[in-house]
This record gives sequence, C-alpha cells and structure tokens, in this order.
Amino acid sequence: MNEIITISKEIHFTAGQAIMELGYLISAIFFIVGLKKLSHPETARAGNLWAAGGMLLAMLITLVFHRNDQGEAISNWFPLVFSLLLASVIGFYVSKKVKMTAMPQLVSFFNATGGAASAIIAFMEFGSIPAENMGLVLVSLLGVFIGAVSFTGSMVAYGKLDGKVGDFKSPAMTYLNLIFLALTLALIAFVVFNQSEYTSNILLYTILGISLIYGITFVMPIGGADMPVVISLLNSFTGIAAAMTGFLYDNNAMLLGGILVGSAGTILTILMCNAMNRSLLNVIIGGFGSSQQTTTEDGGTIKEISLSDAAVLLAYSNSVVIVPGYGLAVSQAQHAVHELDKLLEKKGVQLKYAIHPVAGRMPGHMNVLLAESDVPYNQLVEMDDINPEMENTDVTIIIGANDVVNPAAMQNPGSPIYGMPIIEAHKSKNIIVMKRGSGKGYAGIENPLFGNDKTRMLYGNAKDSLQRLIDEIKNL
Ligand code: TAP
Repeated sequence: MNEIITISKEIHFTAGQAIMELGYLISAIFFIVGLKKLSHPETARAGNLWAAGGMLLAMLITLVFHRNDQGEAISNWFPLVFSLLLASVIGFYVSKKVKMTAMPQLVSFFNATGGAASAIIAFMEFGSIPAENMGLVLVSLLGVFIGAVSFTGSMVAYGKLDGKVGDFKSPAMTYLNLIFLALTLALIAFVVFNQSEYTSNILLYTILGISLIYGITFVMPIGGADMPVVISLLNSFTGIAAAMTGFLYDNNAMLLGGILVGSAGTILTILMCNAMNRSLLNVIIGGFGSSQQTTTEDGGTIKEISLSDAAVLLAYSNSVVIVPGYGLAVSQAQHAVHELDKLLEKKGVQLKYAIHPVAGRMPGHMNVLLAESDVPYNQLVEMDDINPEMENTDVTIIIGANDVVNPAAMQNPGSPIYGMPIIEAHKSKNIIVMKRGSGKGYAGIENPLFGNDKTRMLYGNAKDSLQRLIDEIKNL
C-alpha cells in the first residue's frame, strides 16, 4: 500500500492515499445526494441514511488508510472505535427518545458539539503549524474562533429553547458584542503577523476565552422565538469551522462536508429571513420576537361559530383548506386534524393543507408534524401554490396559526410584519379560526383577519376543538 504512484512530476500518491482520496470523493457524493433528498419530506429519511452512510465511509477509510508524516498507520484503534461506538449508541438512543417538539433543542445541542469539536481540533493543531505559514495560522485561529462561538452560542440557544434560559436584552450588549468581535479579529490579525511562540500561546488562549464568552453574549439578547434562525446561522458557522479544520488536516471529506453544512445553513438562514421579510441583522439585534409594537385594530366585530354550525359548513363545502400553525404543534393536534380531513374527504370535500414556510417555530415544522400522522404529502401545498386558489375556497380552517395569515402583512404598511408573505386566507369565502382566546402570535401584533366579516372563531385548545368537531360531523 505504500508503493508510490506518480501521477505527474509534482503529485505522488501511495496506493493507500489514492484509495483514501477516492473514498472521500465517494462520501462527498453521498453527502450531496443526502442533502438533495433531505429537501423533500418523502425522501428525507433516505437522505439522512445517505448522508450517514457517507460519514461512515469517510470514518472507516480514515481509520484504515490514514498514514502520518512518518508513514505510520493509526495504531490506537481502541479509543477511536470505542468513542465512535459509544457516540453512535448515545446518538441512536437520544434520537429515538426525543419528542418531536424538542427537536430544535436536540439540533442545537448537536450543533454545539460540532462547534466544540472543530474548535478543539483547530486549537490542538495551532502548535504544529510553522509560523511562516500565515495562511494556515489564520485558518486555525478562525477555526478556534468560529467553533467556540458556535459551541457556547448553541448551548445558550439550547437553554432558551428548553425554557431554561431567558432573554437578556440591553443596548449595551450590542456594543459589547461589537467590541468582542473587533477585539478577537484584531488579536487574530496580530498573531498572524507577529508570531512568537510565547505571545502566540497566550493570545491563543485569550482568543479562545473571548470567543467562548462572545458566543454567549451574541445569542443571549436574541428573542427566544428567533432561535430557529439563530440555530441555522450557528449551524452554518459550525460548517465553516469544520471546513477550516478539514483544510488544516488536508482532509477533503471534512473540508467538503464542512462546506456543505456551511452553505446549507446559510441558505436556510436566508430563506427563513425572507419568509419573515426580515434582515438577518434585524433578527440578531432587532428583538422582533419580543416586540411590544401593535397595529391598530381596524374595527370589525369578532364573531364566534357554534360547533354544529361549523360542522354543517364544513361537511357541505366543496373545497376546504386547512392552515396549520404553531398552536396545532403545541396542542399536538396532528392526528386529530388528519382524522378530520379523512372524514371530510369521505363526504366528498376537496381538502388541502396550506403550508407556510415559517409556520410554527422551526423549518419544516408543519411538514414534520403532519408526516407524523401520515397526511399524504400530495395534500400539503406550498404557500405560493395555494394562494391563487384561496378565492375559490369555500372554507379555510386556521388551526393555531396567526401571523402567517395576518392580512396586515399585505395591507398595512405600518405593521411590523408588512411585506412578509402570507397565506391569503382572507380571500376565501368563509374562514374558521381555531385558537384558545385572544392570544397573539409570535410577532405580538393584532390580526385584523379575526374581525373580518367572513371570519368566525371556534375557541378552545386545538386538539379538543378538533375532536369535538369530528364528533359533531359524525353525528350529522
Ligand atoms: P403564531 O403567529 O405564533 O400564532 C400561534 C397562535 O396559536 C396564537 O395566536 C395562539 O393563540 C394559538 N395557540 C397557541 N396554543 C394553542 C393551542 N393549544 N390550541 C389552539 N391555538 C393555540 O403561529 P404561526 O401562524 O404558525 O406563525 C409562526 C410565527 O413564528 C411567525 O411569526 C414566524 O415568523 C415565526 N417564526 C417561525 C420560524 C420557523 S422557522 N417556523 C422561526 C422563527 C420565527 P391563543 O393563545 O389565543 O390560543
């Protein structure tokens, strides 16, 4: 395996190295296929397996074919295989046990471990990089910085999502964060241009320390409900940090994997911000989630609907659109709503679900929730596709959704959510809104849809209301 293969005058490979590089290329293809498949609910499970398969291949290939500078193979197999097996068992157990509603916390926790791993590798590698190789010194320090920020930032995000950590907002925090950022970048630049063994080591620890604190102060002021955007951003940071460590190690699988995670995280962050019509800066310093701003209610009396009227209206409609939102997830009404849709379909009603990209509190929240109760994917219609159909829809049932159907986003330039794309429920012929009371949505603003002439409210916990509605329709 150590026989030298010469591809050109400059490039020499041993056979083992060649197999390793080929294996890494195959794992990168697995990652890309996995990512592609993750973009649709029907193929997402397979996508996960493809990506995991790619990672397994990359790890096995490294264990078998990696050689150090002296040409020696990996000899300390036991701790490596033991930690791989232990981590796999823990990962499997945690993923099986976690509740669907706690998924964002889990993602955040995994992200934290990824950031920590990248920071540790970059930190350990720093000492072995020759001072004159300024590019590598820079990459390793950025790896420490970004990895450490991702680690503590994701842990704070985890705490916030789990309700263990509250928001801590103060204008001073923004300035403090700017100071931390400028200081860290200045220290990194100093070390890159002025290498001396003694100062470099002290400064390396200082950079690590400030980065760990900066991760906390960066996420602390961000509104708890903005966490999905922040997690996605931190996820892209982790990917970048991993790509940097891949570059340090000259490991193509790690480099490519990191680039894929980094770019996927960045794209998701941009998509979420666009779907909320907010800039990333606004998410980071705006505190929209805890905004006190309200729009003025433009009149309109809020009317209720009785269970029996709702049952009759739905059972004798031709077309019904269900708009699920955060309240559906909170009350775990996904099975009840599927029961309702099957019941109505049996009665000849044409039924569709309207899926807003940021309904709920995490990307794909509604898709995941409805997939859990086996709602067929072809019934889930994306916002842009359903909106042209709303005018001809007999009844739109809004279940625990609020902001994503708020017409102020289209009609009121003074509204904080003006410009955010919405499901145009107000255009349908009748609207039934299921919610518990007068609670506001995530944006904390009034919704003029509830006072619309065509709207009637069915108050109660979504799951209970749906169950009562199902019983009523069955008794018709
Ligand atoms: P929201 O606007 O948050 O409204 C949810 C509504 O559900 C509330 O008005 C609440 O009213 C009702 N509700 C709560 N618990 C309920 C229960 N048990 N039964 C029935 N109703 C219940 O939800 P949405 O329309 O899905 O909008 C999502 C919001 O989150 C958007 O503003 C979006 O920008 C934001 N956001 C989303 C994401 C992602 S990635 N999805 C990320 C960050 C932010 P009552 O209290 O009166 O019941």
